[in-house]
This record gives sequence, structure tokens and C-alpha cells, in this order.
Amino acid sequence: MKENINNVNSKNPPLGGGGAAIAMIVAASENNAIGKDNQLLWHLPNDLKFFKNTTWGFPVIMGRKSFEAVGKPLPGRTNIVVTSRPHWKATDTITVASIEEGIQKAIAATNSKVIFITGGGEIYKQSMDIADTIYMTRVHATLDGDTFFPEIDESKWQLTSNQDFTADEKHAYAYSFQIWKRKA
Ligand SMILES: NC(=O)c1ccc[n+]([C@@H]2O[C@H](COP(=O)([O-])OP(=O)(O)OC[C@H]3O[C@@H](n4cnc5c(N)ncnc54)[C@H](OP(=O)(O)O)[C@@H]3O)[C@@H](O)[C@H]2O)c1
Repeated sequence: MKENINNVNSKNPPLGGGGAAIAMIVAASENNAIGKDNQLLWHLPNDLKFFKNTTWGFPVIMGRKSFEAVGKPLPGRTNIVVTSRPHWKATDTITVASIEEGIQKAIAATNSKVIFITGGGEIYKQSMDIADTIYMTRVHATLDGDTFFPEIDESKWQLTSNQDFTADEKHAYAYSFQIWKRKA
């Protein structure tokens, strides 16, 4: 995992963060479904571990609906929640009115060189043009969702790493950990 983070720091010039790299992290089915009824579509313990290890210690920016789906801040990370509701608050989170404000507050609060965008669909869509890395867990199934990750445009993004895992007793679907980098 450390290796992945170092890749983000060393190989990617910062695009959206005024000195910080912006990385999106997501799990999506073959048809880009990421959720339904404000919940995930699967339980994949290895993906949860990957998410935790990759984002641990970094600021995470998420939409208000994704925050409420989890219901509490992610431990060990600076949690930043984007909402248009001026009085919205939650314990141990920073509330912001836009993704850009979230990035500024992440830098001000942590001085981190990497900022993670952790969803959901609305936030990913608005972050496609400012992110320089996508950590994609591709879940090898076509699933019925109501929320989707944007199509990755291969003229703009390059797959730089792919690790395949088969389904097993704890994982109903095969999946691949992928890293996509924005092309220069
Ligand atoms: N598979 C994955 O990796 C993954 C990861 C995360 C989430 N998810 C899933 O994604 C779904 C949630 O995604 P979603 O698209 O419904 O919601 P979301 O992106 O989590 O949150 C949307 C909310 O964010 C706020 N927001 C978005 N853009 C804003 C802007 N420019 N300025 C101010 N506020 C803004 C608004 O909050 P207000 O309404 O409060 O103004 C909006 O309602 C759930 O099913 C969740 O389980 C999946």
C-alpha cells in the first residue's frame, strides 16, 4: 500500500490541490454501479482493508450522503464532508460547501501531499477533471445500482497497475485492484 501512495507522490504532478495530489478511491461494478439506496452493493472485506490501508492518515473528502451512509467519521483520517446545507454538522468532521473548499481545508488542516476523494457518485463526477489518480476496485459483476462512477475515458487515463483476485467464501465476486493515472 505504501508503494501506491509513494507513486501518487512522486510520479504525479499536482493538478487540483495547489501542491497536493488528488486521488479518487472507488469500488465499481463492470457497469460502473457503486451503490443503491445509499448503500454499497457488496461486502468485500479485502476491499475494505485496501481502502483503510490506502487512505489511513490522509484527508478524505466525501459527499453528505456518503457520510450519512457510513454514519460516523472514518477513524485515523481527517474527514471533510461536502454539503450545501449551511448548518449541517457532525462530530469530528470538517463541513465545506464545495469540493474546492474541501481541498483547501484539507491542505490547511493537514498539509498532506495526497487528498482522497471517497465518493459518492455526485462527488466523483465533479472530481474527474481535478483528480490525477484513481484507485479503482473493479468488481467483476454487472449489478443493479442507482449511483454510478463516471466512465473512465482511456484517452485521458492510463491503467498503470492491475491485481486480480478470484471470488472465495468471503468475497461473492472476483475483483481487481487497479490504479489509473491521468495521461500527461
Ligand atoms: N462503491 C464505492 O466506492 C462508493 C463510495 C462512496 C459512496 N458510495 C455510494 O454512493 C452513494 C452515494 O452517492 P450520491 O451520489 O448519492 O451522494 P454523494 O456524492 O455521497 O453526496 C451527495 C451530496 O453531496 C453534496 N454535494 C455534492 N456536490 C456538491 C457541491 N458541489 N456543493 C455542495 N454540496 C455538494 C450534497 O449534499 P446536500 O444534499 O447536503 O447539499 C449532495 O446531496 C451511496 O449508495 C454510497 O453507498 C459508493
